[in-house]
Amino acid sequence: MRDYPSERVDLRSDTVTQPTPAMREVMAKAVVGDDVLGDDPTVIELQNRVAALLGKEAALFVPSGTMANALAIKSQTKPGDELIAHSKSHIYLYEGGGYAGISGCSIALLNGPRGIMSPADVKAAIRKAEGSQSHFPDCSLICVENTANMGGGSLYSQAAMDEICAIAHANDCRAHLDGARIFNAVVATGTEAARMVRDFDSIAICLSKGLGAPVGSLLISDRATIDEAHRWRKMLGGGMRQAGILAAAGLYALDHNVERLANDHARALKLAKSVNSMEGFSVDLQAVQSNMVFVDTAAGAAADLVKSLAEQGIDVLALTDSSIRAVIHLHITDEDIERTIAAFADV
Ligand SMILES: Cc1ncc(COP(=O)(O)O)c(C=O)c1O
Repeated sequence: MRDYPSERVDLRSDTVTQPTPAMREVMAKAVVGDDVLGDDPTVIELQNRVAALLGKEAALFVPSGTMANALAIKSQTKPGDELIAHSKSHIYLYEGGGYAGISGCSIALLNGPRGIMSPADVKAAIRKAEGSQSHFPDCSLICVENTANMGGGSLYSQAAMDEICAIAHANDCRAHLDGARIFNAVVATGTEAARMVRDFDSIAICLSKGLGAPVGSLLISDRATIDEAHRWRKMLGGGMRQAGILAAAGLYALDHNVERLANDHARALKLAKSVNSMEGFSVDLQAVQSNMVFVDTAAGAAADLVKSLAEQGIDVLALTDSSIRAVIHLHITDEDIERTIAAFADV
C-alpha cells in the first residue's frame, strides 16, 4: 500500500514524492523560530546533525540543491576562475548556467562513461593562469556528482573520489561533491557518509529526492566557507524564516528514509532486468547501481513510448528521442513495478 493515494505510477523523478502522513505530523508539530535571525531550533538541529553525519564543521539549510551548488561555487571561486565538471553534470546541464551568471566562472567539461570523470582526465584538465602568460583561467574548483544522475544513477568508486580530491588539493583547487543523492550512494556501497566525503571541501545534499522531504537541501563544509555561503544565501534571497517546519521533514527523513533506499535499488534492478529482456528495449544493466533505470529504444520512438506508458498509468520522462528514464522512490511498491513491467510488455 502506498502512503499517498494515486492511480498512477509516477516514475518521472524521485522529486515527485509527497510528505507522508507521519512526516506531515512532525512538520506540523515542529518547534520553530526565525532562521534569518538564527534562532530556529529545528533548523539548527538539522544543520548540526548533517554536519556531524558528514564529519564537517558546519552546514547551511537552503531551499534547493541548485542553491546549495551555487553557494558552493560562489563561496569557493572568484570571477574569472574555472571549474571542472562532467558534461552530463547537473551543475552544467540544469542549473541555468549559474556558475557563469552568479559566479562569473567558466567550466571545463569532461566526458567519461556513465557520468563518471576519471582522475587522470581531471588532472589533465586543470589550467592555471600562472605560467601561461595569463592565457588560461585559474581552475579553482572540481565538482563531482555522486550518484551521477544523467549517468543513470551511477556510482564513483571511493578510490576515484579520493584520487580526484588529492589531485584537486595538489593543484590548489577545492573539491565539491554534488551529493543530491549521496544517501543512495551510501546505501548502495555500504560506505559511511563521513568516509565517502572525507576529502571533499564541500558537499551539497538534498532531502527532497529519495529521502522524501518536500523541500530542502544543505551545503556542508568548513566554518569559513559556510559563513561565506550564508552571506550569499542572504543576497540571493534564500533565507527562510520559520523554516523549522521544513527542517523537521528533513530530520524525519534522515531517521526513517535512508536505509529503505535499498528497496528502491532492488526494485530498479528488477525493472531494469525485466525490460532489458524484452524485444525493442535495452538497458545498460551495469549502469543500474541505485534507483534509476534508463531504457533505450529505437531512434525516434521515445515520445511514443512515454505516451503509451502514460496511457497505461505509468509516467516516465524522455531523455532523448530514443531513451527514457524511470526513477524509483518511496511511493513505488512491488505491485507498481509489476504493473510497469506489464505496461512495457504491452507497448
Ligand atoms: C544531481 C543533482 N544535483 C542537483 C540537483 C538540484 O536539486 P533541486 O532540484 O533541489 O534544485 C538535482 C535535481 O534533480 C540533481 O539531480
